[in-house]
Amino acid sequence: MMKSKISASMMCSDLIDLKDTIDIFEREEVEYLHIDMMDGSFVPNFGLGVDYIRGLRRLTDIPLDLHLMVKDPEYKLQWIGIKNTDIVSVHYESSFQVQRVLDWLLPYGCKRFLAINPATPINVLEEVLDYIDGINLLMVNPGFAGQKIVPSTLKKVRKVVDLLKKAGREDITIEVDGNITLENAKVLKGIGADIFVAGTSSLFKDGISSYMENIKRLRQAIK
Ligand code: DX5
Ligand code: ZN
Repeated sequence: MMKSKISASMMCSDLIDLKDTIDIFEREEVEYLHIDMMDGSFVPNFGLGVDYIRGLRRLTDIPLDLHLMVKDPEYKLQWIGIKNTDIVSVHYESSFQVQRVLDWLLPYGCKRFLAINPATPINVLEEVLDYIDGINLLMVNPGFAGQKIVPSTLKKVRKVVDLLKKAGREDITIEVDGNITLENAKVLKGIGADIFVAGTSSLFKDGISSYMENIKRLRQAIK
């Protein structure tokens, strides 16, 4: 099992404090900045876009964890400025040819993740195991911060862990996204999750003065 990693959900951060927030994340060695990109079509909301990402790159070298909730992502990859240290998650349902998206990600040298929604059957993973480095398991239906976990997803993470074991692919990273409270994080760590998206449920619970403490608490929960 790999060392647990934190991916800070930037859509939950306060723009006024952005620079100070990033300074704290660098000091606390937060591993990834989770970027929810949404097109108002694949999910019912708009999210962080290319200008935001460009700005963020000028502030920090912390790798980005780009969560693409957009239709037909293959044609949009070139807009983003993907680096080889980044993670890029694409949703199974976002393209009619999701394997092509994974192929088109290859030249960027990034980590390729398939994202699946709470109701997406896990057997879709079997056909793409050769083309992915990780799986982003949504614990909520994506689009909004501050939602409650879909209870069946806990069982589902267990099923994915079993599937990977049977396939001899325990090297594949498991990321969990949505309502990652300290309690959920602890349970999910026990099941086998590796990367924890930290949003309003943990890291961004209160104002910037609490971020350092919140990170330490989350680290403790996923030790
Ligand atoms: C979904 C999003 C949200 C959010 C996570 O793609 O990633 O789940 O930012 O933070 P919570 O759910 O804790 O507000
Ligand atoms: Zn996300």
